[in-house]
Amino acid sequence: MTRPKVLVARAIFPETIARLAQHFDVEANQADEAWGKEQFVARLQGKAGVFTTGSERVDGELLDACPQLKICANMAVGYNNFDVDAMTARGVLATNAPDVLTETTADFGFALLMATARRIAESEHYLRRGEWTRWRFDMFAGSDIHGSTLGIIGMGRIGQGIARRGALGFGMKVIYHNRSRLDAATEAQCQAIYVGKEELLRTADHVVLVVPYSPASHHTIGAAELALMKPSATLVNIARGGIVDDAALAAALRDKRIAAAGLDVFEGEPKVHPDLLTVPNVVLTPHIASATVPTRRAMADLAVDNLIAYLTRGEAKTPLNPAVLSAPRK
Ligand code: DGY
Repeated sequence: MTRPKVLVARAIFPETIARLAQHFDVEANQADEAWGKEQFVARLQGKAGVFTTGSERVDGELLDACPQLKICANMAVGYNNFDVDAMTARGVLATNAPDVLTETTADFGFALLMATARRIAESEHYLRRGEWTRWRFDMFAGSDIHGSTLGIIGMGRIGQGIARRGALGFGMKVIYHNRSRLDAATEAQCQAIYVGKEELLRTADHVVLVVPYSPASHHTIGAAELALMKPSATLVNIARGGIVDDAALAAALRDKRIAAAGLDVFEGEPKVHPDLLTVPNVVLTPHIASATVPTRRAMADLAVDNLIAYLTRGEAKTPLNPAVLSAPRK
């Protein structure tokens, strides 16, 4: 009996490939070559499934060129690399990797907030450059986390994890804005108060962005929103590039219209807006919010679970378009 063929688009744990190989004929990209769209399409020929990492674009054009493809399993909770409507229309299942990264990503959001507000990266660079010759009372004086107001935009699972850390661990007042208000029990658990976006931007000492990317959330924070924030405020983006207008943010940081920013995601990453590289009051990390070894293993495992469940039993653990389960691609 011929086994389904699966493509793994990026380098991944050898154990992940080994698990897939128990069920499928696997073509893997362990050399982590950067494939253009044409190469990706060529590699996908004859493949029933693909393991993606969040950066490979899957749209209608690609699916039409790969008629045997039945499932795309993203090893990421975010799935803005997928055109889910195009996938549904063609009976191709999309899956993502939610839940397994929630606490790890919330930890990182908080770490980036702390590093930003307390100017940890900036002061470390100063020390490494050998500029620390004498202590001064105002050296790298930042802003407090404890007792301050934390504003969270995007109150999904990760946003809620950050809210709990802020309220329960640091005695912060937590306000949030979301497309829809949380139920009363969840608000109470997170000790979070729902406010409008403008009120949040005007009153928060620290603003953390955890909103999923879509055309509607493009440039949620631009020049107008930055102008509403306190001059002492910090902004943290662990959501997706494009949620913030990076050029407007770099200008606001340069002109000290806000105090500091922490960014794990960027418009057009891995490219970073050149102006962000020249302002000192920003902490920059290369999209690593979910990067702990156990969590990355769990994300990879969940993507593999989905591939196995769908291609061997027609089921899925975390489908994004469950309608496909009853109307699959022929
Ligand atoms: C996610 O899971 O969406 C993270 O951003 C890692 O890609």
